Amino acid sequence: MTSTTVQADKLLNGSSLTLHGYDSDTPLADRYDSSDSSSDRDRSPSPNGRHVTKEILGDVEIALWQDLSGGCGGKTWEAAYVMINYMLWKQQEDLSHSFLDNKTILDIGSGTGLVGLAVAKACPSLAHMELTDQIPMMPLLQDNIKLNYLESKVGASVLNWGEPHDHKVDIVFASDCVYLEVAFQPLIDTLVTLTTNNKDVQIYMSYRKRRKADKRFFILLKKQFRVIDILDDPERPVYSRKGLHLYRLERKTLPAIMKISSPSLLR
Ligand SMILES: C[S@@+](CC[C@H](N)C(=O)[O-])C[C@H]1O[C@@H](n2cnc3c(N)ncnc32)[C@H](O)[C@@H]1O
Repeated sequence: MTSTTVQADKLLNGSSLTLHGYDSDTPLADRYDSSDSSSDRDRSPSPNGRHVTKEILGDVEIALWQDLSGGCGGKTWEAAYVMINYMLWKQQEDLSHSFLDNKTILDIGSGTGLVGLAVAKACPSLAHMELTDQIPMMPLLQDNIKLNYLESKVGASVLNWGEPHDHKVDIVFASDCVYLEVAFQPLIDTLVTLTTNNKDVQIYMSYRKRRKADKRFFILLKKQFRVIDILDDPERPVYSRKGLHLYRLERKTLPAIMKISSPSLLR
C-alpha cells in the first residue's frame, strides 16, 4: 500500500461516490480539507436530505446513509478518514496482522458509523465492533449496519458520554468527538470508565482543531491520560498541516496514596 489517497466524487444513480484509497497521484495537500467538514462530502447531492453515498477506503467499499436530521453526526467528517486510513494501514503494516484481530472495539460518538463500519469490513478477523451515540442517531446507525450486511459483526447502542455503561473492550475509537464544551468532561469521564478496570484498553482519538476552547479539553484530559501523537502514520505530514490530529491515549497510573482518595481530587 502506498501512502497516497484518492478522493473523487462521481454521481452513481443519485449516490455520491467518494474514494479514499491509497493509490493515487492526487496531490497530498488536496486530501484533507481544512474547513469544518470535508469538501467532498459537502458536494454530495442533497447534503441536508437523507441520501446514500458510497465511500471507497483502500479495498473497502462502504455504502452510507447520511442524514443530518438526528444531529451533526449524520454526515461524514474528515477526521473520520484520518482514523480509518491509519487503522487500515496499521493492520496491513503489522506483519502478523494481529493489530485488530479478535479485538472488541467500541466506537463512541459514531455518527453515521463510517469509522466502525469501514474498519469492521476491512478486518473481518475482529471480534466485535459496537457503534454508539445518542438516541437520535440510532436509526441511522442501524440502517448503515444493514446497508453493509455487517449485522453479524457490528452492533449499535446508546452511549451518552458521562453516563454509566458496562462495555468491556480492547480498543476505543473516538473520532471527531471534541467539539462541544459542555461535553468535554462527560467525554473524559466515559474514557476514564472504559480504562478503570483495564488500563490496557487502547484509545485512539482523531481530532480537528476548531476552537481555542478545545485547549481546556486537553488540560482536563491530560489529568487522566497521556496524550501521545501517533508518529508512524504516513499520512500525518499531510493532515497535520490542516489542523487534523491522531492521538493514542494512555491512562496515567496513580500513586497508591491517591487511589484511596476521592476521585474528585483528580478533577
Ligand atoms: C462530529 S460528529 C463525529 C461522528 C463520527 N465519529 C465521525 O468521525 O464521523 C460527533 C458525534 O458525537 C456525538 N455526540 C455528541 N455529544 C455526545 C454525547 N454527549 N454522548 C454521546 N455522543 C455524543 C454526536 O451525536 C455525533 O455523532
